[in-house]
Amino acid sequence: MKVLVTGGMGYIGSHSCIALYEAGITPVIFDNLVNSSVKVLEQLKKITGTSIEFIEGDVSDAVALEQALRQTNASAVLHFAALKAVGESTEQPLRYYQNNVAATLTLLEAMQKVGVNKIIFSSSATVYGDPQYLPFDEQHPLRATSPYGWSKIMAEQVVNDLCCAASDFLAVSLRYFNPVGAHPSGLLGESPQGTPNNLLPFIAQTAVGRRPFVKVYGSDYPTPDGSGVRDYLHVMDLAKGHVAALLHHQADKGFHTYNLGTGQGHSVLEVIRAFSVSAGKEIPFTLAPRRAGDVACYYADATKANQLLGWTAEHSLQQMTDDTWRWQSNYPQGLEYSDE
Ligand code: NAD
Ligand code: WQD
Repeated sequence: MKVLVTGGMGYIGSHSCIALYEAGITPVIFDNLVNSSVKVLEQLKKITGTSIEFIEGDVSDAVALEQALRQTNASAVLHFAALKAVGESTEQPLRYYQNNVAATLTLLEAMQKVGVNKIIFSSSATVYGDPQYLPFDEQHPLRATSPYGWSKIMAEQVVNDLCCAASDFLAVSLRYFNPVGAHPSGLLGESPQGTPNNLLPFIAQTAVGRRPFVKVYGSDYPTPDGSGVRDYLHVMDLAKGHVAALLHHQADKGFHTYNLGTGQGHSVLEVIRAFSVSAGKEIPFTLAPRRAGDVACYYADATKANQLLGWTAEHSLQQMTDDTWRWQSNYPQGLEYSDE
């Protein structure tokens, strides 16, 4: 089986290419490199021992997409390509809706034209907004708190509607919780451009000496130690979730949603402690005010994915921070700025 992986040069897409390859599925990457480096291809080759095909292109480009789908004879699309910075999305909402919603329409139209009728869509726990109850299950009402979050709700609605209209179409929307970690080889991981927004890259860059300290946003939340709690999930577990979804739904139609998380919450202070153990040094941090828009705590009910897909997140928090540290210490400036 061959699949087109939009955004396959990015953090989650590249790790998913490894899981696909290991499962005997051939990934072909389609990416415009807006938030990734072409050096990822070399790393994928070192890890898998094979050259993964790469087509440079934009998901907004219908002609390029149709050509890629025809040329590769893909039987499904894994659609990772999106912009993902929550703060930036409030400053540039139209860019986010254009790239994450309108481009998804372009992709779906191209798929229909070429006769590809399966999509695995990268959604996010952010679609649930402020928790009405915890853990979040897939029935929790959807209400985003940023244009980024709305772009995911809108794109989910679009694929859902398409599945209602086209009885032969399959769409699986995977709602990721907080993906972290790196490939255990230390050859591939997350290299955010500029100052990281997310906790793990920030801690990792602090551990490697690029930043003086981590700001813990909020120490007065109603959580056991006062810092925010999230459901951190190893990126290789997440990658395997895509394979499980693809294989489970091979002969299915319709729209399906799954939470992908561990079901367990960890606080910011716990994550910093685990990282200190991985790095063998104290990570300097300071307690800071809450970050606007953050909620105290959320985590997944992943029972549906466990039961239907036979998928369970297997890595512990310590493994997540160990792998992140291995990657960050191998590539302190990220892949883009390495000499390899
Ligand atoms: P990433 O930025 O590392 O990867 C996205 C990739 O898509 C990049 O390689 C980028 O160059 C590419 N891309 C963006 N727009 C494109 C376009 N128009 N055409 C072609 N390529 C394009 O992000 P990631 O963390 O790997 O996220 C992958 C997906 O998972 C995204 O849809 C994101 O919204 C979703 N997601 C991420 C997280 C997270 O915390 N990382 C959580 C939940 C959901
Ligand atoms: C985690 C915790 C922060 C940075 C975001 C998106 C979500 C999804 C995943 C895409 C929170 C705290 C953070 C720092 C800190 N992405 N923190 N100091 O906000 O849970 O989720 O990424 O879909 O949509 O909103 O992740 O890693 O930014 O924060 O104390 O320097 O770490 O307050 O409690 P978040 P995060």
